[in-house]
Amino acid sequence: MSFETLLAHLENGIYTITINRPDKLNALNKKVFEELNLAMDEVERNADIKSVLITGSGSKAFVAGADISEFSTLNKEQAMELSSSGQATFFRYENCKKPVVAAVNGFALGGGCELAMSCHFRLASDNAKFGQPEVNLGLIPGYGGTQRLVQLIGKGKALELLMTAGMIDAQEAKSLGLVNYVTSQDELLNKAKELLHSINTKAPLAIAGCIKAANAVFDENTDGYAVEVAEFGNSFDTADRVEGTTAFMEKRKAVFNGN
Ligand code: COA
Repeated sequence: MSFETLLAHLENGIYTITINRPDKLNALNKKVFEELNLAMDEVERNADIKSVLITGSGSKAFVAGADISEFSTLNKEQAMELSSSGQATFFRYENCKKPVVAAVNGFALGGGCELAMSCHFRLASDNAKFGQPEVNLGLIPGYGGTQRLVQLIGKGKALELLMTAGMIDAQEAKSLGLVNYVTSQDELLNKAKELLHSINTKAPLAIAGCIKAANAVFDENTDGYAVEVAEFGNSFDTADRVEGTTAFMEKRKAVFNGN
């Protein structure tokens, strides 16, 4: 599958999506959103895709935000529509049944930070910078940033970042729990792929159950403990649960097939 604003590449079960507008620091315009939806269609459709890695093109930016040039003519209703549809795209990534990991290779500002936060977890290279600078533009984040930043780093620090428009570096992001690993720029994709290769050997339906239950924590209309009960039960109906428990008893490595 080929795109105008994304590079997409499937290798060993890992579908790498690279936001590819390096001359605009990979800013998210309408076309990028359209293609992020098409890429997610492919992730959902293609059984050879076991997991997803999202990164940015070039050495400077993951994504430097929503494309500000598209904001100048928007009225209130159009802005609300943009926010809703952007949120809907990122919900698809957050709720994807396959693991989605962000490899943050530079600036992750505004919509870039929001895209990274909608992934299941994040790694960063040592030159990465995170922030929600929207108040510099007289705006607030519109793609879930006010919600997920609070979820990930707590209300006090999140509101400081939101109100000051300040940037934090990769080490601070790690100390706050926003990213799990900090690597050199050269090692970033290798480390992300190493983690995804390991995850890809686990039972896919169990992975999907973990994602669903963890996301339920933040859905006030859903009882996360009830989701856990249901997903725990569902796992007992799978061939992979039989394989996993049998392999353990037989002291061999389980081979899962996603059923
Ligand atoms: N939207 C549209 N274009 C963007 C962009 C964005 N969010 N971020 C960067 N660009 C463009 C710049 O306009 C510039 O384009 P040009 O060469 O045609 O003039 C190009 O990307 C390079 O950016 P530049 O600002 O020259 O790089 P820099 O190294 O001096 O600064 C940043 C890097 C990230 C600090 C700066 O680009 C920036 O502040 N970007 C906006 C961040 C932001 O507010 N994001 C939230 C948006 S809601």
